[in-house]
Amino acid sequence: MDFELKTLNRTRICSEKCDALLVLIPQNLSSDDDPLSALAALAIKSGDFEAKPGKLLSAYRTPGIAATRILLVGAGDGSPKNVRIAVNAALGALKNSNAQRAVLCLSALNNLPPDAVRTAVVACSDATYVYTTTKSKASPAKLQRIVIAVNDAANARAGFDKGTALVKGIELAKEWANRPANHATPTLLAVAAKDLGKLRNIKVEVLGPKEVAKLGMGSFMAVAQGTAEPLRFIVLHYEGAAKAVAPVVLVGKGITFDSGGISMKPAHEMDEMKFDMCGAASVLGTFRALAELQPALNVVGLIPASENMTGGRAVKPGDVVTSMSGQMIEILNTDAEGRLVLCDALTYAERFKPKAVIDIATLTGACVVALGGVRSALFSTDEPLAQALAQAGESSLDLCWRMPLDEEYAEGLKTNFADVANIAGKAAGAVTAAKFLQRFAASFPWAHLDIAGTAWKGGAAKGATGRPVSLLLDYLLSQVPLAVPGKAPTRAKPVKRSTPVSRTRA
Ligand code: BES
Ligand code: MN
Ligand code: ZN
Repeated sequence: MDFELKTLNRTRICSEKCDALLVLIPQNLSSDDDPLSALAALAIKSGDFEAKPGKLLSAYRTPGIAATRILLVGAGDGSPKNVRIAVNAALGALKNSNAQRAVLCLSALNNLPPDAVRTAVVACSDATYVYTTTKSKASPAKLQRIVIAVNDAANARAGFDKGTALVKGIELAKEWANRPANHATPTLLAVAAKDLGKLRNIKVEVLGPKEVAKLGMGSFMAVAQGTAEPLRFIVLHYEGAAKAVAPVVLVGKGITFDSGGISMKPAHEMDEMKFDMCGAASVLGTFRALAELQPALNVVGLIPASENMTGGRAVKPGDVVTSMSGQMIEILNTDAEGRLVLCDALTYAERFKPKAVIDIATLTGACVVALGGVRSALFSTDEPLAQALAQAGESSLDLCWRMPLDEEYAEGLKTNFADVANIAGKAAGAVTAAKFLQRFAASFPWAHLDIAGTAWKGGAAKGATGRPVSLLLDYLLSQVPLAVPGKAPTRAKPVKRSTPVSRTRA
């Protein structure tokens, strides 16, 4: 999808030729004497239209308006949340039409908040995205181009740029998450990461089985030993600030298929375990967006990528392995593999002396039970970090909810045969998983996002959501130091590259 931002007030927009004109109408619509406002006012007065979020009224070849199709869309109070509902409804209604070029008019919304423009752009992408990669007769979306019309493009520019950067990140995350496991192996994920290494200020390193063994990642290796697909440990660097600036580290669970291993999962909906790398996909997507926006920050991305399979070489319940931290882990359930790959990545993160470490993982079915698909679970040992992430969730409409980490929850992880077991009892499964990870995150401010319920949808609309790329980007942008003249820039300095953009060690 191509996006363009244009200054077009309600009068000008009446003469704008396009296949479809989607006009967001707020509840407090101010009167204006253009044909569009007259149409909306008349429809409201006659009771045929209401400005409630998502309400629609369509018209065709209307006198005084150049667009072929016109859709009035209720936008309530014009808040980002209602803008999202409105855009979804409008583009949903356009789905089976032949429209190729649409104009989304935000000009009737008063005091348009910048986040509403960002939200509109992201919602346009969400409503029109189609996965095509593994279909032989791919029929791409008809709609090719959306013009976002506002009263003052200069004012809306920042929100628009953030929106288009996010769309690139979210669509990349969806693409890799949606690909079947045989089209998204650890090796292929590493190739996708390497591709990001071609973008400005991004460097990518890929470690293979040998390097990972040398690092002593015995826990990660235990998960990977049951599959013929070689593991990859992917390290991304976004360098938008001076070297001395401590980075934020994002750790994404990259289980490209989770069969459960010897503690095998039931067959029902097991295909959905191709989505068990959505944490990894969200890290890739966030880096894609960072490359677009070039904020003055340093960010490291870590992705332990492997399949979790069963077989003669697979790790067995009761096996004890030594993690990179030296802690010995009794693997009581091979299906609790996410924490086993993440713990070694958390230990690896220590070397960056990070400002904060955030891991993102489709970690527990229990999280789906607790919070469903609305909010991701947020765990953190650090108040400012927790608050910044919760705030980023609200501002980006990519919501999360704080969960507890009381020490009592760690009781069930005790074992007679190692330092810690990888599962506890049935109760509070999302929390006990977080308690396990916490043991490996003692040396930096740490947060854990369990995205098991939010990263993809099942059923007829089965597919990745691209969450929580929006949340992560808003958090990272909130960490950019404010511009002081002559001091820290809010944008990365342009760099000339003399060194190769990426290195491989696989
Ligand atoms: N990838 C799953 C978690 C998951 C399950 C996410 C269903 C979304 C939907 C994870 O590796 C897993 O299997 N967790 C187990 C942990 C249990 C064995 C303690 C679970 O949640 O059942
Ligand atoms: Mn599992
Ligand atoms: Zn898993």
